[in-house]
Amino acid sequence: MIKKIIITGGAGFIGSHVVRRFVTNYPDYQIINLDKLTYAGNLANLKDIEDKPNYKFVKGDIVDLEFINKLFEQEQPDAVIHLAAESHVDRSITNPLEFVMTNVVGTVNLLNAAKNLWKGQYDQKRFYHVSTDEVYGTLGDTDMFTEKTAYDPHSPYSASKASSDHFVRAYYDTYGLNTVISNCSNNYGSFHFPEKLIPLAIHNITQQKPVPVYGKGENVRDWLWVEDHARAIDVIFHKAANGTTYNIGGHNEWKNIDLIQLLCSILDKKLNRAEGESAKLITYVTDRAGHDLRYAIDATKLKDELGWEPSITFEEGLEKTVDWYLHNEEWLNNVTSGNYQDYYSEQYTNR
Ligand code: NAD
Ligand code: DAU
Repeated sequence: MIKKIIITGGAGFIGSHVVRRFVTNYPDYQIINLDKLTYAGNLANLKDIEDKPNYKFVKGDIVDLEFINKLFEQEQPDAVIHLAAESHVDRSITNPLEFVMTNVVGTVNLLNAAKNLWKGQYDQKRFYHVSTDEVYGTLGDTDMFTEKTAYDPHSPYSASKASSDHFVRAYYDTYGLNTVISNCSNNYGSFHFPEKLIPLAIHNITQQKPVPVYGKGENVRDWLWVEDHARAIDVIFHKAANGTTYNIGGHNEWKNIDLIQLLCSILDKKLNRAEGESAKLITYVTDRAGHDLRYAIDATKLKDELGWEPSITFEEGLEKTVDWYLHNEEWLNNVTSGNYQDYYSEQYTNR
């Protein structure tokens, strides 16, 4: 019987959608949001549910073993949904060690705490690890990532996520801990930190600033609306068998340059600009090192076994997302003040 769930990284982009969904849809569960509140964590993402009786926020670092052990002892959770991570590829190129600490050491700390607390009752508990399609590496023109694709990570970020996936499987194989893993494609939607392509482009187009496109803009990503990812996590958490893995994706591949052109034309209309005006902001810049060319997810297993499919089209999701950013200027201003400016000039000046 699941009663209490620790959701890690719940103040981040995807985590906040997962926390909101579980707090709202499962009033009988106690949800503990465990988050360090790094630059990417923001409690403003959860304003609408922060007073709900089944929600609690705990500030803490998953790298801190003593703190994690104490928290598990005190709270006696029945399940963990683990999203806390350093998540931005460009930052991993600048500072790989931080990614090893949070993504690898932090994950092993949580696995260990769960293993110790749940001894003798693994089949009644659940450790859900949220991972990425980037662990599979890069694709040619037509193939797709399945759950059987061999791991081939290229960035320090994806190497750290691949390593954490291996540890989760090792805890299932070695100790019998009840684990599940999902590997998802690129998400987009509300509360997305504007270091990632879609929110960064919306922000810059709105502000009439250059929109940086890496290399020739020919890299392909498979975009999924974040609320569909949160729903997939809900389905997998409740229905997947022990030790299984599911890929999650949108069947929605876009070349970066085509996506940026689309955003420019949506914003031309919404901001009453002449057609083609925003596209003048597109600026080609030096490519990302080790830049994976194409990601595409085959999510057939999730559809056939657990009945999940995306609920909205990309056109609908993008429209909702652009509108959300246009109507949430205060949120955007808050997250783009202070440290963001330093990050932005370090990342993009003289690129
Ligand atoms: P995010 O960067 O928006 O949020 C990460 C959250 O983790 C933040 O709230 C941050 O404060 C917290 N955190 C970071 N280090 C921590 C630590 N040491 N201890 C406790 N909390 C810490 O990330 P996101 O985009 O929401 O991604 C969430 C998860 O989903 C990650 O594991 C990521 O690898 C995975 N994922 C992301 C995408 C995507 O498109 N964004 C796609 C597939 C999988
Ligand atoms: O595939 C899932 C992954 O998607 C997640 O695991 C990561 O946490 C998430 O950050 C995302 O990784 P990407 O590297 O694909 O996302 P990002 O938004 O950084 O970049 C998307 C594409 O756009 C990529 O090809 C690089 C390019 N890009 C990105 C930025 C920030 C640009 O051309 N210009 C930019 O300024």
